[in-house]
Amino acid sequence: MPKKTTIIYKTKKKHPLKIKEATAIYTADKLDIAHTRACDCGPTHINCLTAKEWLKSQLGVWQFFYEKRDIRDKTLHPATFPINLVKKCIELFTHKGELVVDPFVGSGTTLIAANDLGRNAVGFDLNEKYSALCNQRLDGLLNLYNTKQIAVRDDAINIDQYSEPDSISLLVTSPPYANLLNRQRKNKSRRGSERNNEQFLKVEQYSQNERDLGTMPIEEYQQEMAQIYKRLLPLLKPKGHCIINVPDMWWDNRRITIHIAVVEALRSVGYELRNTIIWDRTNIVNRIGIFGWPSNYITMGVTFEYLLDFWRPPVIQPINI
Ligand SMILES: C[S@@+](CC[C@H](N)C(=O)[O-])C[C@H]1O[C@@H](n2cnc3c(N)ncnc32)[C@H](O)[C@@H]1O
Repeated sequence: MPKKTTIIYKTKKKHPLKIKEATAIYTADKLDIAHTRACDCGPTHINCLTAKEWLKSQLGVWQFFYEKRDIRDKTLHPATFPINLVKKCIELFTHKGELVVDPFVGSGTTLIAANDLGRNAVGFDLNEKYSALCNQRLDGLLNLYNTKQIAVRDDAINIDQYSEPDSISLLVTSPPYANLLNRQRKNKSRRGSERNNEQFLKVEQYSQNERDLGTMPIEEYQQEMAQIYKRLLPLLKPKGHCIINVPDMWWDNRRITIHIAVVEALRSVGYELRNTIIWDRTNIVNRIGIFGWPSNYITMGVTFEYLLDFWRPPVIQPINI
């Protein structure tokens, strides 16, 4: 486990936004966790799927249902993705026994999915309450495949302190959506009296910690994502995939294109975008309110999100930040 994880923050004076760059000054011990295959798949196979299972995953639009184990109570965690979504990513891009890392693990969905599928996994979260929630959920799991799932309370900028280069087969996460949840919830996507539910006018934000990406304006968020993923790239195996789940959102009648910010950030530090998958959420939303009619056409964020699939190119190109 880590010796010390304190970091200092230096203001980058030359940057117009005065972005704070985190610099690790203490080292943490590398985690004792396996990352090699525990299957007998052929050396060129990128996963353990059969041809039939592979065929089903070729569609670029995915749908999922939440299951009972998923956390839907927003007082426990305000923004979780379904266990089945992460399972599909893990099955597509890893073999049994390999290592999955979630830099923004929240309630621990990725760790549960990894345990189900016999993959080792580590999840990081800045907030103590969420790493505690992860540990509580992990305590209840059986270890059928002799793998480990570990929740670490730390800033994602420090992950290179914990993992070896070329050890991670898949980075998968749903990061904060810049500061777009850091405001009172108006429930505009809800219909009629359903707007006034228990979430109405609540701020569903993880924390007000200045290192929490959910407090940062979109430009600063983009810079910070670039810094975090720049440090993660050498930890990924060559051709290892990196999946990021984000929606776009509306703010004062302007479209905030979080997915574009993320694509630009990751490309700027050497990742290559391989696939854009749409998570079609229409099967899990109902009774949507009317937005914009008849004068302003607006597509609703609750009905779909992006799954941006990058990889570490076989040869890392020079980066420009
Ligand atoms: C969208 S949530 C992830 C939810 C997760 N996919 C789940 O199913 O529970 C994003 C998480 O990022 C965490 N976070 C924000 N800034 C962070 C940082 N700098 N380092 C690590 N975690 C951070 C927040 O505490 C929050 O739990």
